[in-house]
Amino acid sequence: MEIRIFTIFPEMFNGPLNTSILKRAQEKDLVQFKLIDFRAYAPSKHQNVDDTPFGGGAGMVLKPEPVYYAVETELGDLSRYEGKIILLTPQGQQFDQELAKELAQEKSLALICGHYEGFDERIRALAHLEISIGDYVLTGGELPAMVVIDAVCRLLPGVLGESASPLSDSFYEGLLEYPQYTRPREFRGMMVPEVLLSGNHEEIRKWRLQEALKRTWQKRPDLLQKKELSAEEQRLLEEIRQEEHDGKDG
Ligand code: ADE
Repeated sequence: MEIRIFTIFPEMFNGPLNTSILKRAQEKDLVQFKLIDFRAYAPSKHQNVDDTPFGGGAGMVLKPEPVYYAVETELGDLSRYEGKIILLTPQGQQFDQELAKELAQEKSLALICGHYEGFDERIRALAHLEISIGDYVLTGGELPAMVVIDAVCRLLPGVLGESASPLSDSFYEGLLEYPQYTRPREFRGMMVPEVLLSGNHEEIRKWRLQEALKRTWQKRPDLLQKKELSAEEQRLLEEIRQEEHDGKDG
């Protein structure tokens, strides 16, 4: 997948894109990143990418020309661009795992990071999609772009490696993750659950599924409402409810 990032702060991406999994994904040529500084496309000699708002008011507004020129120079004829042009903004569609999966199917992504207090409304017309990473306002679209990139890239085939391809993305879909343990078996009196030491794969599978259901039910009941539960999941959830009702759950 090729991912182009349009930003006036390309240096912000150096750490996240060149560390750990994303670094390895580039080395394996599973993803290519290109940072485009739209300051280079500013219309004036002084390279101003922002200006005061028409109608008055505080703050500066990102001008349309640098963004349009940068995107058009980079992507060519936009009507033939085989990818998604995405604008990061708090007004966008809320980013979630479902959207990450959809974007992971694309050949190419172009992420436009807004900055300063706002951007000229006409910039919206460039984008196929607007994405928000949550109901809070950041200083720019750079961190949201990194969040989107990270969530999408880990879903690309080969990025996590076969053994790591997360169960949570298929079987445990829509649930919070079950608890994980590693050595030692006991730490400060806290024990690893016996079932995980049993070697009984079927029992372990059931336990993990039930724990994932329990956590989701306790911490994020809204997720359960969205999920279609299998017969087994419904039965396990019923057990959890019963246990809680009986006061056995610690
Ligand atoms: N730009 C500023 N805040 C943002 C947010 N929450 N999501 C996406 N882009 C943003």
